[in-house]
Amino acid sequence: MFCLTALAKLILNYFFSRHWVRTIRVLLRGVGLEPTTFRCCDCSSHTMASEEPEVGLFIPERAEMYRNSTEVKMSQIVLPCHANHRGELSVGQLLKWMDSTACLSAERHAGCSCITASVDDIHFEHTIGVGQVVNIKAKVNRAFNSSMEVGIMVSCEDLFANRQWKVCNAFATFVARHTDEGKVQLKQVMPQTQEEQTEYSVAAERRRMRLLHTEIMKDLLGNGPKGDDCQDFDDAVPSERTRVESVELVLPPHANHQVNTFGGQIMAWMENVATIAASRLCNAHPTLRTIDMFHFRAPSQVGDRVVLKAIVNNAFKNSMEVGVCAEAYRGRETPRHINSAFMTFEVLDAEGNPRNLPRIKPEPLDGPRRYREAIARKKIRLDRKYIISCKQTEVPLSVPWEPSNQVYLSYNNVSALKMLAARTNWVLTSEKNKVNLYTLEENQVLCFKVETHVDIAAKRVFALLSDLTRRKEWDRHYKHCEMINQVDEEDAIYHVITPSVSKTNKGQDFILLASCRTPCNSGDPYLIALRSVTLPTHPPTEDYIRGEIFCAGFSILEVSSMVCKVSYYNQASPGVLPYISNDIAGLSSGFYNSFCSCSKFLEENKESRATADSTAF
Ligand code: COA
Ligand code: ADP
Repeated sequence: MFCLTALAKLILNYFFSRHWVRTIRVLLRGVGLEPTTFRCCDCSSHTMASEEPEVGLFIPERAEMYRNSTEVKMSQIVLPCHANHRGELSVGQLLKWMDSTACLSAERHAGCSCITASVDDIHFEHTIGVGQVVNIKAKVNRAFNSSMEVGIMVSCEDLFANRQWKVCNAFATFVARHTDEGKVQLKQVMPQTQEEQTEYSVAAERRRMRLLHTEIMKDLLGNGPKGDDCQDFDDAVPSERTRVESVELVLPPHANHQVNTFGGQIMAWMENVATIAASRLCNAHPTLRTIDMFHFRAPSQVGDRVVLKAIVNNAFKNSMEVGVCAEAYRGRETPRHINSAFMTFEVLDAEGNPRNLPRIKPEPLDGPRRYREAIARKKIRLDRKYIISCKQTEVPLSVPWEPSNQVYLSYNNVSALKMLAARTNWVLTSEKNKVNLYTLEENQVLCFKVETHVDIAAKRVFALLSDLTRRKEWDRHYKHCEMINQVDEEDAIYHVITPSVSKTNKGQDFILLASCRTPCNSGDPYLIALRSVTLPTHPPTEDYIRGEIFCAGFSILEVSSMVCKVSYYNQASPGVLPYISNDIAGLSSGFYNSFCSCSKFLEENKESRATADSTAF
């Protein structure tokens, strides 16, 4: 049980934490060290890689350390034959090494030959020089049916300074090659550590986004700016000048033992033509910063001719988007479209700062469309990068919700809850009639969890709890709740009003994005994730104090057909603390009473026909 001083410490810690984080940052900056992430100055919700995150990451390995059975490592010294003219490792070579390492990890899990299906966005934080060592580590995060997600971590090591830096991380999907019997059903991954549990859990959410990617892009590009809005600049470079076409003959060294071209080899060829196109615009050596998520649409084999076409689609102030398309054919066959990718390049000056780039004049026909789509992709790319990579230790404030970032906010919402649920260091703070209250204090953030079992089917509990408008039936903190926007089948935005904590205070209101997920595999819980967003149509008003919820929600795990474990999580924000501090201090049992009324509500409605066996979404 918490004593009052402990509670005071927790609350003080919490309220002062953000000031401390800021102060520590200022101090670190003062002594020339920068934390690896910081908030972008014009948007508090974004986190960015710092300019120089060269913090030593080298962790010596100990023989007794646990090792994941699918983990595969590759270390390579960068030789001049791997490098470009500036003595930096070519990204194409790095992609080949990453793909081979990841493929070997996938095959270790699958026990059979695997092919690359897709690679998520890759952001390159550093270049790697000749003489340095590249260390690549890959492991299978989760297997689904015939596909699995492989996490890849790339670091660069300076042998003389005994230091390592993160270069990039990536997630690739590999598919076990179909056999004569058809699709292979892979065995499940059994996570052993908290880190593995988190990756396992969030992998399902990344998969959802990946499979939606093509449709999302189509929708977002379709809703983007229309018409002839390509600005005419006098000094604009005609994009035709950057056009590249190059052919490759697929030979045995480019392919695996099943004669399929390596995914990494195709990516390397694509990067090569993209670099040429980018160089033609700037007449200099460009640096590749980002490769957008892409999908290997169809295989190619030894003997195929692979035609690679690239052109600069648009140039912004400091960066340009190059599009690449890969087609394969044999003899007189019609070329098959096997891949398309979009890469972002910069050109660095002698100090390493991005140079201004010339504008582009789009080519006739497809040029204006690609020019506009490049603008839309730039925004999507930024949303995806910052919303998805937002670290939970860098508490995300409410992010403006827009249709274009909905899928990424939804991902962020669910993955934050999954990460909280995967924590293993919860401390049991209070227990009453099998309703348990746990707390977790980490990185100056206080979180709590209330957990109990109910004798109702998990699916039914999910259907009842996912309709937030019904929460006022059991939660006295929900005075009013109205759905503002049913975003899609799984997501909705609500306006919630809660009573004031003291008689003199105003009540609070919240704009919440609720993201609901059914289990991906048996053993997964149902999830209802909640986080604050901002909506221009619902600005804060004089009547209420606008509260924020960083991460909260329910996890409902089926124990048997008629019993489930219900866990409620909350990363306590200042707006929520007053409601729970008495419980944490052991001064009241509000959490117990809330859960009792929740159980009663579930019990009373377990047979209700109106919403039986369907979610509210
Ligand atoms: N990203 C991630 N996974 C994807 C995907 C994408 N864009 N598209 C399909 N998948 C997954 C599916 O979810 C499914 O996973 P599951 O079995 O775990 O549920 C799996 O791929 C197979 O899907 P299926 O619908 O049976 O096949 P498909 O017709 O969509 O084919 C590939 C998928 C990857 C097999 C096919 O597109 C292909 O052969 N691509 C070329 C692969 C290649 O040559 N790679 C480079 C050389 S190794
Ligand atoms: P889209 O044309 O819709 O962008 P594609 O998959 O056809 O999609 O092509 C992807 C990218 O490859 C294009 O945006 C363009 O940058 C580049 N590309 C496609 N075709 C050519 C071509 N014939 N010559 C040069 N580049 C091309």
